[in-house]
This record gives sequence, structure tokens and C-alpha cells, in this order.
Amino acid sequence: MTEIDTSALFAQAAGVLQDNDRGTYSVPTKGLYPFQWNWDSCLTALGYGFLDEDRAWTEIETLFRHQWDDGMVPHIVFHVEDDGYFPGPDVWGVAREIQTSGISNPPVAGFAIRRLYDRSSNPEAFRARAEALIPKISHWHRWFHACRDPEGTGLVAVIHPWETGRDNSVDWDAAFDRVPTEGVKPYTRRDTSHANPEHRPTQAQYDRYIWLVQHFRSLGWDNSRLHDASPFQIVDPGFNAILIRSCEDLADLADALGMAEIAAENRAMAERTRAALPSLWSEAHGQYLCLDRKLGTLIDSRSIGGLMTVFADIGAEHAGRIAERVEEIASQTKWIVPSHDPAAADFNSTRYWRGPIWLIINFMIADGLRRQGRIETSDRIVGSSLDLIAVSGLAEYYDPHTGEGCGGGHFSWTAAMVLEFLNIGDGVGNEALNH
Ligand code: GLC
Repeated sequence: MTEIDTSALFAQAAGVLQDNDRGTYSVPTKGLYPFQWNWDSCLTALGYGFLDEDRAWTEIETLFRHQWDDGMVPHIVFHVEDDGYFPGPDVWGVAREIQTSGISNPPVAGFAIRRLYDRSSNPEAFRARAEALIPKISHWHRWFHACRDPEGTGLVAVIHPWETGRDNSVDWDAAFDRVPTEGVKPYTRRDTSHANPEHRPTQAQYDRYIWLVQHFRSLGWDNSRLHDASPFQIVDPGFNAILIRSCEDLADLADALGMAEIAAENRAMAERTRAALPSLWSEAHGQYLCLDRKLGTLIDSRSIGGLMTVFADIGAEHAGRIAERVEEIASQTKWIVPSHDPAAADFNSTRYWRGPIWLIINFMIADGLRRQGRIETSDRIVGSSLDLIAVSGLAEYYDPHTGEGCGGGHFSWTAAMVLEFLNIGDGVGNEALNH
């Protein structure tokens, strides 16, 4: 392991968070992602929480100012004009004053505001802001259940890979092949001019991303129709675990602030999802798998989506199995936790979500394992994450074999996670954080 200078690391992470700050929202990184991204923002807010609590709450408030009337919180808010990103607002065609995308993202906001509130040196000062956000976040949770689980199975689906945040995961391959490409209007990608094309999704995948956007747009972005009309409906266990955790965290916070009705509703939603989650468990793989809702079958792909589930309270037995799986992977790659099974034929150590390590995912797994008593494995993930930063800086994602930083650099949520890791890693960074 590389020797870690925690004060230097703290300063480096704080510098990135400041550079990517646009006043009331942050960008994931300059160039590649010039707008506000939903789950990036909520996780980045945790980082701001260590620097300036007021700024942290503003980040999430800004995002929720762009919540749709139906409750959906879009995955991108196009605050400014910038033709450095494709697909921009003209492709989404959403009729709003400040335009947004038309799909959502993993709902980490409930978890994030609870953590900000609990960790605050003066929670009372943020009480009114929490009280204003809680009903909005609850509306978003209700929206997921109504619009992404219309049959009430307890599990919500995603209808676009970008909705999961794991854009080109191997998990989607077979289902994505069924998405047509006819009628996709000619376009020029921008991502490949900011980052190595070898590290990015393929052209065939991009055509399908755009086909889905055009298809949903042709349906007027009417969320009462999109789920059933989508040829791509995937139930991702990691996504559902995030929803459970956020519903529960929001419920706890709502209870603490005397908002009993919202608390009860969120607890009931969490219970419904938790009760259905075991249907995604694969005994053969020792982890959860995605479900292709169109076919009604589990997807035989051992990805990080099935390990992220430990972010929610999934019970000691499954948490233990996931810890074992992480330990097994740790014997196969130098750094952990890769986004795909390193022993699989389709593993690719540099291509985005098909193998590389993402620190936000490491954080969620480490945090979940810790809550469920798996301290040793959690510490191993924290150590590996900090080591990656020391070796390769604050990249978008990392090659689990070489430690090389890939994709964009100077990344907000990576920086925020460093501050989180310094905080949870056996207090390794306490000195730096309290300075
Ligand atoms: C990529 C990632 C997604 C992230 C976005 C902005 O699309 O796959 O998870 O939210 O970039 O950083």
C-alpha cells in the first residue's frame, strides 16, 4: 500500500470540489459533464458537507427545484448552454424553462440529507431546510413506485441504462440488443473528444441510448406510459437497494422532525421493496442479479449491481455472502471493487462500467458492510480506495489491475468520496477532517 498523506489528500479533494462549484450546483467535471447530474450532486453534497454545510444543502435544493410535477427528479439539469455535451436539451425536447433530461437516476437524496443532518455540528440550523426537502424526496420515492413499478411488484425498473448510472454495464447487453436503432437521427458524440474512446460506450450502444430518448420523447415524456412502452425494462438490485436505504433514511429523519405520515409511508415503501428483493438472489452466484422484466428472467451477469445491495439492510446472511464475494474478488484484482466479475469473459478493466472501479460504489458497499458488522471487508475497500487516489489522483474511475485513472479527471464525486473515506476509514483522516 502506498503511504497516504491525509492532509494533502484532503486539500486535493477540497480543491476539486471548489473548482467544480458553480455557485448553487456543481458539475461532475469540467468539459465532459458541464451540467448538474442528479446522483453526482447528492453524493457530492456529502463532500461539501465537510467544507461548508450551507453549500451542501444548497446543492440538493437546487436539484429539487427542477423536480417535475409528477415527482420525477431528472438525471440532468441543463442550467447553462454548452454544446460540449451530447445529447443536449434539443435532443431531450423537454418543455421547461430550464431544461432537463427526461429520465431519472438512483435516488440517493434521502440517504444524503439524513447523513448531512446527522453529521451537522448544529442540526437545528438546517431543520427548516430538511423539512422543506423531505416532502419533495418522498414525492420522488412515490413516483418510482407508481411509474416504474406499475404492477406493484415492490421492485422498480429502469427504462434507460443512464437511469441506473451504470451506463454500459454488461448487465444490459442482451436486453439492449432488443432496442432498435432505426430512425435515430444523425448525431455527433462529444464524450469521445473529452475521453479515450476505448474507455467509453460503443457506437452501437450510443445509437440505442438515443433511440430510447427519441422514443420516450415521441410519447410526450408521459410517465404514465413510458414504463410499459419501453422495450428496455430492467430491475437492478443495486438501484432498488438504494431506494430502500433512502426511503428508510428519509423515514428516520422525518420521524425525528415530527413528520409521522411521511415516515410511515416511506417505511412501507422500503418494506415492499425489501420483501421482493430476495427474488433477485442467485444461490449459484452468491449475489443478487438483475431481472429482465420483459422476459421475466434473471440476467446471468455477475456485476457490481448485485453487490451494491448491501447498502440497504438486506439481513446478515446475504450481507455475509456479499462480504465473502468481495474477499474473493480481492484475490483476483490488485484493487477493489471492480464493476464487473473479473473472471468473466466480458470483463474489461478500462471500459467504464464493464470492469473499472468507481469510488461512489466502493463507498456504498463499504458503508453498507460496516453497518452490517463486516468491518474487515469494509476497511479493505476503504484502504484500496484511498490507495487508488494516492496512485492515480481523483479520476472518474480506475483500472482494477493497473490502478490507472480512466475517463475524465478532476471528478467531484470522487473527491467527495475521498472525504467520506477519510472520515470512515478507522478515523484515519480525522486529523485532516478536523483541521
Ligand atoms: C456517466 C456515469 C453516471 C454519472 C455521469 C456523470 O454517465 O455513468 O453514473 O452520473 O457520468 O458523472
